[in-house]
Amino acid sequence: MTSEDKNRAQFATRLGIIATTVGSAVGLGNIWRFPYEAGNNGGGAFLICYLLCIILLGIPVLCAEFAIGRTSRSNIFGAFHQLKASGKWHWMGYIGILASILILSFYSVVAGWTMEYMYQSIVGRLNFTEIDAFHNQFASFSSSNWRPILWTVLFLLCNYIIVVRGVKKGIEKMSNLMMPALFILLIIFCINSLMMPKAHEGLRFLFTPDFSKITPKVIVSALGQAFFSLSLGLGTMMTYGSYFSKDTRIVRSATITASLDTLVAILAGIIIFPAVFSFGMSPVQGPALVFEVLPSIFAQMPGAQIWSILFFFLLFLASLTSTISMSEVSIAFFTEEKKMSRAKASTINLIIVLCGGVLSALSFGYFSDKSFLGLCRLDFFSFFDFTSSNVLLPLGGMLISIFAGWILERSRLKDTLTNNGRIGVSTFPLLVFCLKYVAPLGIFLIFLFGIGFF
Ligand code: TRP
Repeated sequence: MTSEDKNRAQFATRLGIIATTVGSAVGLGNIWRFPYEAGNNGGGAFLICYLLCIILLGIPVLCAEFAIGRTSRSNIFGAFHQLKASGKWHWMGYIGILASILILSFYSVVAGWTMEYMYQSIVGRLNFTEIDAFHNQFASFSSSNWRPILWTVLFLLCNYIIVVRGVKKGIEKMSNLMMPALFILLIIFCINSLMMPKAHEGLRFLFTPDFSKITPKVIVSALGQAFFSLSLGLGTMMTYGSYFSKDTRIVRSATITASLDTLVAILAGIIIFPAVFSFGMSPVQGPALVFEVLPSIFAQMPGAQIWSILFFFLLFLASLTSTISMSEVSIAFFTEEKKMSRAKASTINLIIVLCGGVLSALSFGYFSDKSFLGLCRLDFFSFFDFTSSNVLLPLGGMLISIFAGWILERSRLKDTLTNNGRIGVSTFPLLVFCLKYVAPLGIFLIFLFGIGFF
């Protein structure tokens, strides 16, 4: 073991590794973004594209990120340098930082909505009596010019406090507790939704693919969602891979992480869509969907207020474990490459993201009727979301798979995936095939498809 190995933080336990990577993967992406993307993109048609993207592209790229992270024991910048790639690969790091800042900017706004809903439930002001009220409640809150900003700032401060203190102390312990709790709550809500009068309509919408609805937009969105949900493409999982111990089984960890993450997304779908159809709502509502449907679900459960508080609290924690992992990308850059202190790095990250967060928050209020030179609406929120999730993450993922499949020495890849030959990985040839051909070509073709090339 080199001295660098010894100094670098490592996860303490096997459960800790899974809880932390799942903690990064599971968040608003599963519970807020997946249902609304599925709702906007035809339900079953979207789900099938999404699952294919997870299996064929997501899991291999996740293995690649873990492998590059552990074998280089470095963040996304240092990794390519360490592995003796040419200078150009350094750019991957800049793509990662840009994407993480864009995502943090809109993500913290939604996490702020979660905090507002938690607060409203605690003080008993979330109206659980009229279904119609939820729509107006969300619309008036999200279009306010100060409340969402206040919550965004508060959320980012929570993130800041944890991030300044380093990786091992806070995250691992919190994830160990929070993930199982969230999971149990989701199961309870699922059972509740399955007993609703039009549950079968919701399930049909989510699980029966109408192949005629598979359009380029659906495929591009599914790819973006897969990468977003697995925290791929910007070096988050690479950084976490660098904290793995030499005994961590990479392929197994990647498969478990992807399975649990997908399970949570599907559970969220099973909670939301039966309710959407039972309450006569439309599945095509965009970002507001979950925030309008969830309160109406709680409303018809006994003890609505308690469920609501518990749920929004856990969702807030789940968002936090995700934003912590995202912040780690730029913080590792500032501390390890630019030799700044952790406090300074965290503060710079906070200031940049605060600016992006305010712009995103105002997209629903002040900017909602403003346009850019009369050409397009000033919707920073959607712009940040689209550019990061549907463009930068897949681009990052494509480059990572090319690096792992074509540039990284095959023996080195094999050594790290098999823990230096101590374990057998029968899927190794398949994985290499996916990394060399399926992932780069698949992502490239989906891009061409998306910009209307075919
Ligand atoms: N995957 C997280 C979610 O589903 C969000 C997230 C955390 C993320 N780290 C990331 C997304 C890195 C993309 C890249 O909520």
